[in-house]
Amino acid sequence: MRIDKFLHAMRIGTRTQVRRLIKDGQITTNGEPVISGKQQINPGSDVVCLDDVQVRYQEYFYYVMNKPLGVITATTDSSAKTVMDLFNKTDFRDDLFPVGRLDKDTEGILVITNDGALSHALMSPAHHVTKLYEAEVTGEITAEQLATFNAGITLKDGTLLKPAEAELVAFHEIENFTTIRIAIHEGKYHQVKRMVGTLGERVVELKRIKFGSLALPIGLLAGNYRALTDDELQALKADAEQPVAE
Ligand code: URA
Repeated sequence: MRIDKFLHAMRIGTRTQVRRLIKDGQITTNGEPVISGKQQINPGSDVVCLDDVQVRYQEYFYYVMNKPLGVITATTDSSAKTVMDLFNKTDFRDDLFPVGRLDKDTEGILVITNDGALSHALMSPAHHVTKLYEAEVTGEITAEQLATFNAGITLKDGTLLKPAEAELVAFHEIENFTTIRIAIHEGKYHQVKRMVGTLGERVVELKRIKFGSLALPIGLLAGNYRALTDDELQALKADAEQPVAE
């Protein structure tokens, strides 16, 4: 692998910043100064240092994002802004992708990684992690209506859903809308919106507030992201190993 690519992939800096670090003699491999970004290295065995501090090889990267409204959950799109467009130049890698998807008009917690095995384990039907949504719904929804989701409902197109847990947060009488929370254990297309549709009402705002054991971090503004902490990553890996309760 080229040393400049390695340094950029390890988020040492943008491509321009990496070029500058090499030019300024701040990078060594196995104790020898690097003079060209084209120099090949073996990331697993060569010791690369920036100002005598080792740049350790990291294969996988994990981020939590507060997805804002109006961007699509995809890696690329010819016209629409994607969640990957929210990454800065240092953190962006073209192998990163979102785990699962949120609609364009849904906001909230989204995990982004380049770890395909973890993503697969989190989303596979055998382990599918629980996802908690908060929704603003037209009209008054009662706790009794929400209880119908407990047994698993059939959507209008005949799709049979697994049992879900829903709770009433508040009915806003003057504005005539209800705040509810729904935990689901699968990821059917527009699932929450279609579940609410079976009650004859409509979701007007939808936010995912929990993904497995990972809650939307307090203070992470819509459109921002940060790396997962080690504890968060371990918790997510444990979620991925948890068999789905039938
Ligand atoms: N359910 C929906 O309807 N939309 C989402 O984005 C996620 C769950």
